[in-house]
Amino acid sequence: MRDPRPNWTCLSCILLTFSLLCVTAENQCRIRNQVADCSHLKLKQIPSDLPINITALDISHNQLKKLPPANFTKYNQLIYLDAGSNILSKLEPELCQTLPLLKVLKLQHNQLHELTESVFASCSSLTELSLGHNIVEIKSNPFKDLKNLNILDVSHNRLLSTKLGSQQQLESLRELVLSENKISSLKKEELDFLSNTSLDTLDLSSNPLKEFHPGCLHAIGNLYNLVVNNAELGKNLTEKLCLELSGTKIKKLSLSQVQLSYIYKSTFRGLQTTNLTALNLSKNYLSMIEDHSLAWLSNLEYLNLEDNKIDHLSLYSLYGLSNVKYLNLRRSHVSKIEDFSFRWLSHLEYLLIDDNSFQEITPNMFTGLNSLKYLSLCNWTSGLHTVTNKTFSSLANSTLQILNLTKSRITKIESGAFSWLVHLKILDLGLNEINQVLRGHEFKGLQKIEDIYLSYNKQLTLTSESFAFVPSLKKLMLRKVACSSLDLSPSPFHLLQNLTILDISNNNLANIKDDLFDGLHTLEILDLQHNNLARLWKHANPGGPVLFLKDLLNLHILNLKSNGFDEIPVHVFKGLFQIRSLDLGSNNLNLLPASLFDDQTSLNSLILQKNLITSVEENVFGTVFKNLRELEMDFNPFDCTCESISWFVNWLNVTQTNIPGLDTHYLCNTPPKYHSSLVMNFDISPCKDSAPFKLLFIISTSVIILFIFIIILVHFEGWRIAFYWNVSVNRVLGFTEIDRQQEEFDYDAYIIHARRDRNWVSKNFIPLEENDQSQIRFCLEERDFEAGISEFEATINSIKRSRKIIFVVTEHLLKDAWCRKFKVYHAVQQAIEQSRDSIILIFLHDIPDYKLNHALCLRRGMFKSHCILDWPAQKGRVSAFHQKLQMALKSSSYIH
Ligand SMILES: *[C@@H]1O[C@H](CO)[C@@H](O)[C@H](O)[C@H]1NC(C)=O
Ligand SMILES: *[C@@H]1O[C@H](CO)[C@@H](O)[C@H](O)[C@H]1NC(C)=O
Ligand SMILES: *[C@@H]1O[C@H](CO)[C@@H](O)[C@H](O)[C@H]1NC(C)=O
Ligand SMILES: *[C@@H]1O[C@H](CO)[C@@H](O)[C@H](O)[C@H]1NC(C)=O
Ligand SMILES: *[C@@H]1O[C@H](CO)[C@@H](O)[C@H](O)[C@H]1NC(C)=O
Ligand SMILES: *[C@@H]1O[C@H](CO)[C@@H](O)[C@H](O)[C@H]1NC(C)=O
Ligand SMILES: *[C@@H]1O[C@H](CO)[C@@H](O)[C@H](O)[C@H]1NC(C)=O
Ligand SMILES: *[C@@H]1O[C@H](CO)[C@@H](O)[C@H](O)[C@H]1NC(C)=O
Ligand SMILES: *[C@@H]1O[C@H](CO)[C@@H](O)[C@H](O)[C@H]1NC(C)=O
Repeated sequence: MRDPRPNWTCLSCILLTFSLLCVTAENQCRIRNQVADCSHLKLKQIPSDLPINITALDISHNQLKKLPPANFTKYNQLIYLDAGSNILSKLEPELCQTLPLLKVLKLQHNQLHELTESVFASCSSLTELSLGHNIVEIKSNPFKDLKNLNILDVSHNRLLSTKLGSQQQLESLRELVLSENKISSLKKEELDFLSNTSLDTLDLSSNPLKEFHPGCLHAIGNLYNLVVNNAELGKNLTEKLCLELSGTKIKKLSLSQVQLSYIYKSTFRGLQTTNLTALNLSKNYLSMIEDHSLAWLSNLEYLNLEDNKIDHLSLYSLYGLSNVKYLNLRRSHVSKIEDFSFRWLSHLEYLLIDDNSFQEITPNMFTGLNSLKYLSLCNWTSGLHTVTNKTFSSLANSTLQILNLTKSRITKIESGAFSWLVHLKILDLGLNEINQVLRGHEFKGLQKIEDIYLSYNKQLTLTSESFAFVPSLKKLMLRKVACSSLDLSPSPFHLLQNLTILDISNNNLANIKDDLFDGLHTLEILDLQHNNLARLWKHANPGGPVLFLKDLLNLHILNLKSNGFDEIPVHVFKGLFQIRSLDLGSNNLNLLPASLFDDQTSLNSLILQKNLITSVEENVFGTVFKNLRELEMDFNPFDCTCESISWFVNWLNVTQTNIPGLDTHYLCNTPPKYHSSLVMNFDISPCKDSAPFKLLFIISTSVIILFIFIIILVHFEGWRIAFYWNVSVNRVLGFTEIDRQQEEFDYDAYIIHARRDRNWVSKNFIPLEENDQSQIRFCLEERDFEAGISEFEATINSIKRSRKIIFVVTEHLLKDAWCRKFKVYHAVQQAIEQSRDSIILIFLHDIPDYKLNHALCLRRGMFKSHCILDWPAQKGRVSAFHQKLQMALKSSSYIH
């Protein structure tokens, strides 16, 4: 779509599909898995070009007048055929012959009138037949051959009686729908065609029933579920019906909207001899249940009394319902429930009494409901007001797990109000008018509580102890409860180690401490939207930004929408590796710090819509966009320049992420040239052109910096480079006799010293030679030079015959010209040829490096540290010096 230019492949492709369309134009049936859907196509003919192996065909909602068997011969694999909502007026008996496998035939909403005796003669494999909404009249036995039929729907026709045949038939029928006909009476002889049938459901709703003849319902083999909704039965006919049901297998009876305004003792008497388990009496304007009138229903498990006008439940109204598990009294205008009214319902598990108007919960209202699991008491018109420690005392022996008290006008919860409900798991107190300080005792005794809903209340003030009695909480909802400050220590949540969901949104919260969520290591969902937390993340905040998310290591979903944030500290999401969904929408964020989202590698959904973001850059979003499935960043004032959005546009072009509104709501704001144009239409090709320049810039800068570096290096460290260079060259070119063995040297060391230091040398070195263990031999000019050879030659020879050269560095040496010019030169040459540690410097005086360099062209840095020795000032350390000297002499002269 982004490139409207046509190309030739596409054009030929269009031509090809077009020509294909011409061939198949007569139908556009949708075919999938051997199912052909040809509905709503205004067809007047059966499509003739469908795959012959289809097993299901929907040709409903067309204009077919006939279903000619010949036109189906191709499709003889059909199992399902829906021809509903056409204008069929006639059926041909051969249809089923052509379709021998047909099981489901739907013909509802047609104009079928007369059904001949043979019309379904070949349809014995049919299991479902729908003839509703026709004008069928039945005279003979059209269904007699449907031996396998399970479901027959003849609703909304003009049937005057239930008689669908004059002989026993339909032995497989399970469901018969006869609703919306003109049946006014049930007669035995009109139902005995079903005498061999076990009906799961018989629906007779919306018929003008006036009479139930004796034995009518016994005529049916078995009947388990009878539906007679929306009929004017009243009390007399209801009673009659129940009498007719007595002794039958009936299990479920639905009598909704039958104008049963009173239940007398006699009304359900007939049901005494049944095992009825479910009774629906909803929408009956029922205003009175006589005492003991339901006592007949001892097997009842499900009773629906919703939407009536009962007003008053007396002590014996529900007498005898000892097996009822589910009782629905919603919207039944109950204004008074007498104490102990429910005591009979010892098996009741679900009690729904929402939308009623009774005045109060009396001390024994629920007494006896020992099996209760679920109690819903919502939308209580007159209101519960204060929940005291007596209110639910009647539930003390119950095993209640869920209590729903929403919209019950609760204003206050007193200490120990729920202490009776030790099994309670879920407590819903939402949408009330609670206005109090929660000190903790309100929830005392809720030992097993997991969820507490307190959302939408008037004003809840939390304390450090608010939830001290409910450490088992997993879910805590505190949305819109006007709790504007949580500046508490310790945090109200500090004991909730198992909390997984916390909602404190819509509270205008402005003050929280950074330890508010400390220890909530299992928290997965945190809702903080619609608060006022912006100040906490500002750099200018006294004491620095408040990093309140830091301990939520397991957080999956975080909602921070609408908090006025205009700054985000770079570390705020650090360590939150589990976040899947993050909503930062509707804030005032502009520049996000680089690497803000670097730990959010699991993020699926990121919402940043309605902020002030102008640029989307890789250093902020590169990591987080990688695994994103959904991004919402619309309604931001994007700056459509290369620097700001070219990376984003590039990403948009290749990403699979779902980005709703990308082609409508992602608009450029600046520069003026692009104002209101779409971000995704921003042309990034000029941005790419600048790339080589950028590269050039980087290269040239690097070259210059390198150059400057080299100059500085040469200036300050040139001598070192020159020295090492010489050493290396000699190594590489092999000028040396590296392989010279230890034994080839006559001396261990040649000693270079100033003439004036001669005495010092003799005094300190000769004793070393005399030491037996070391067997060191020094070459001393005065002693060891061969006679008769010039001093030049003698020096060179001696240096060559010595393994090491020792410089005795003194002020005198620096001044001694002979040493400086000649000996040092040869010594250094030797060092270059052999090794850096062939020279040992012994400093008698403290001589700075620059002087040494100046006088002898030597620097300390040229030699290994163990070859530089200082003559100790204290006598006591002389032996340590000797040790060092011996080490230096023994160290190998070769580079390894
Ligand atoms: C049945 O098939 C015949 C011959 O193909 C065709 O003329 C006729 O219109 C078809 N009738 C229907 C209702 O499809
Ligand atoms: C049904 O027939 C169509 C061609 O008419 C063929 O492509 C398809 O594989 C067949 N399906 C089966 C399950 O045989
Ligand atoms: C109901 O039956 C009683 C007597 O059985 C009769 O008096 C009364 O009129 C009947 N009510 C209706 C509405 O037919
Ligand atoms: C009701 O159930 C009992 C026991 O399950 C059974 O003995 C009795 O026949 C049933 N009554 C009817 C009318 O089906
Ligand atoms: C609350 O109950 C009254 C009847 O008591 C009903 O009219 C109203 O629709 C109910 N409201 C809700 C939201 O269910
Ligand atoms: C209920 O509260 C009252 C005071 O409001 C107290 O005297 C009484 O002991 C409490 N009852 C129970 C069972 O906690
Ligand atoms: C709970 O059961 C005990 C013992 O069965 C009984 O004494 C007490 O009255 C019952 N309380 C309620 C409220 O049902
Ligand atoms: C309580 O009832 C209200 C409305 O009747 C419903 O919306 C809410 O989900 C219920 N609460 C629980 C915990 O089921
Ligand atoms: C928290 O959950 C664990 C594991 O389900 C459970 O063993 C522990 O008792 C719970 N803690 C509280 C205070 O309920």
